Amino acid sequence: MKILVTGGTGYIGSHTVVELQKEGFEVVIVDNLSNSQAWIADAIADISGKKPHFEQFDLADQKLTADFFRRHSDLMGVIHFAAFKAVGESVDNPLMYYRNNLVSLMNILEGMQQNVIPNLVFSSSCTVYGQPDELPVSEKAPIKKAESPYGNTKQISEEIIQDTIKSSEIHATALRYFNPIGAHESASIGELPLGVPNNLVPFITQTAIGLRKQLSVFGEDYNTPDGTAIRDYIHVVDLAQAHVVAIKRMINQQMKQRFEIFNLGTGNGYSVLEVIQSFEKVSGLKLNYKIVGRRPGDVEQVWANPEWSNNELGWKAKRNLDEMTASAWKWEQYYRNKQ
Ligand code: NAD
Ligand code: WQD
Repeated sequence: MKILVTGGTGYIGSHTVVELQKEGFEVVIVDNLSNSQAWIADAIADISGKKPHFEQFDLADQKLTADFFRRHSDLMGVIHFAAFKAVGESVDNPLMYYRNNLVSLMNILEGMQQNVIPNLVFSSSCTVYGQPDELPVSEKAPIKKAESPYGNTKQISEEIIQDTIKSSEIHATALRYFNPIGAHESASIGELPLGVPNNLVPFITQTAIGLRKQLSVFGEDYNTPDGTAIRDYIHVVDLAQAHVVAIKRMINQQMKQRFEIFNLGTGNGYSVLEVIQSFEKVSGLKLNYKIVGRRPGDVEQVWANPEWSNNELGWKAKRNLDEMTASAWKWEQYYRNKQ
């Protein structure tokens, strides 16, 4: 029951490692620490009581990745999180994104093929839907032209996986995440953005703790009830648990097709102002924010139809928005107090 978690010291990866260990899986993490830190492996051990095996190297390095897979040919599966994920940075530096996200995926697929490792779970994103024509958005919705090189790496990755598995023994599951937020209840692990956060919730908690002066709310002229954009925020622990269910489905050979796609969202859309209100409620603080113009490339509203995941995986997101914002705030406070 040995699983490779690439990007396992990152935000979603670390929470997934904890959930895998809880279910008795032996976990090997590979991460080059380009966007995370080595102590996270210890924080995982503090929660689960078991330190995951950790190897630090760049999965875009073909030789090192091939060598890793030769040494770990007994893996039952790979959960592949490792990627760069900042949309704006990908617009400024597209080749860095294509190289990191696509080359590492190809190296992993090669290693799996050569060592007959049967199961791949891939981190995809709701960004592949762009602004969907119908809401809520189901897995059958058409893929829209990507808004950014980052988004394009997710689309191309899904295609690379589908093409590769046709001529190999590999089975694959693409999980399309909506907006993961929140942190583990222990507040030992959470989201750790480098520099100024791009995403809403870390910007909120960093503003509240005094690291940022003011949150800018991007746009209040959207065609939504309060004018601000709507997303499907999902608690990172719910998301992590879906990965355990997905890899078990693969190991137990319960897939209906060799390549499956699942939306991971709650099915509820919340506006930016609703997220701020939830944060203010759970923290008892007044957040300093101002409304500014729209952020280029943002879609107006998107939320998931999670029926296929709920029915097929037997998984459902359980935690509500207040639990998400409260856990994000607890993590921000614990982490800053540790510094
Ligand atoms: P993260 O940056 O916290 O974690 C990614 C980890 O991968 C980091 O620890 C980083 O050091 C590592 N990494 C990156 N490139 C690597 C390489 N070449 N070799 C080895 N390690 C490498 O990001 P996250 O939020 O945990 O996201 C995980 C995955 O989920 C990514 O693929 C991301 O694109 C996808 N995703 C994230 C979100 C989100 O909002 N967080 C939404 C949809 C999809
Ligand atoms: C949420 C809402 C912003 C910051 C991004 C990626 C997507 C996926 C998840 C990986 C939007 C508004 C934000 C701020 C704001 N990642 N906002 N002020 O843009 O939905 O999705 O992360 O796959 O691909 O694009 O998430 O958290 O950045 O924004 O008003 O300072 O909050 O405009 O409406 P987004 P986000």
